[in-house]
Amino acid sequence: MNFKGRTVWITGASSGIGEALAWELGRLGSDLVLSSRNTEKLNRLAKAISEKYQINTDVIFLDLGNNATIPEAIEQFSDRHQKIDILVNNAGISQRSLLIETPVEVDRQVFEVNFFGTITLTKGLLPMMIKAGGGHIVVMSSVVGKFGISLRSAYSASKHALHGFFETLRCELSDKNIKVTIICPGRIRTSISVNAVTKDGSNYGRMDEGQAKGVSPEKFARRVVKAIHRNRKEVATGGKEILMIYIRRFLPWLYYILASRVKPT
Ligand SMILES: NC(=O)c1ccc[n+]([C@@H]2O[C@H](COP(=O)([O-])OP(=O)(O)OC[C@H]3O[C@@H](n4cnc5c(N)ncnc54)[C@H](OP(=O)(O)O)[C@@H]3O)[C@@H](O)[C@H]2O)c1
Repeated sequence: MNFKGRTVWITGASSGIGEALAWELGRLGSDLVLSSRNTEKLNRLAKAISEKYQINTDVIFLDLGNNATIPEAIEQFSDRHQKIDILVNNAGISQRSLLIETPVEVDRQVFEVNFFGTITLTKGLLPMMIKAGGGHIVVMSSVVGKFGISLRSAYSASKHALHGFFETLRCELSDKNIKVTIICPGRIRTSISVNAVTKDGSNYGRMDEGQAKGVSPEKFARRVVKAIHRNRKEVATGGKEILMIYIRRFLPWLYYILASRVKPT
């Protein structure tokens, strides 16, 4: 895929992976629509990228945790843009809490953003994509979208749910030229742990040690763009934590031993 002149909507563009993807796709000449709740940050980012790469940028407020506001964001998008070539469903929140201590309200909060918000946005944009003859949907899952691990119950479940939904979407809509690339990042050096929810719904507020040693978001963004370019169905990338996916698949007994011992922070 040639990214030049393509209209790409990136959710969660105000920070981390989304921000790095915005810079990378801007460098490749895509027109960018940047979304999240922090429009002040997005406006600064949009200005900096468009000045550097002479591309068109737009900012649309989006709160995936408040489903009722999503149709308004879609309406703004379709008022201002003729088409959507690539939707990058990147926004998400993580979790740092034991499931036995976590009320279902907090589980729902995680699902609302990571799953229901994401699928509401996607469903709202599909008619536009289909009408235009196709499009590419990118989904930011996680390594824990492939297996469960302590302290991530709702987070891991919400990412597993994305696989079920978007694999089905691919089955149902590939004849409409809708492509789906699911990315399973390992540890990427972003604020994901800082912004993770705890058992009472408040922010964890700390950079995990493992997170701080993760792959840089810029390097990771280049890998994501390569995966989109090659129309990869699913890509897991990060550091050695990716190995756990293969252990889970090929040596499940070892996964059961390791996973019950690992206490990720
Ligand atoms: N970093 C990792 O190691 C890692 C590993 C596996 C998967 N991932 C996934 O990668 C994606 C990006 O995370 P990141 O690492 O870049 O973390 P991050 O730095 O915390 O960025 C998260 C982004 O999501 C947005 N967001 C959060 N809640 C939102 C809401 N209610 N509505 C709209 N946007 C919302 C945030 O923007 P606002 O606060 O401005 O709304 C921010 O732009 C997530 O889906 C995450 O699960 C990350």
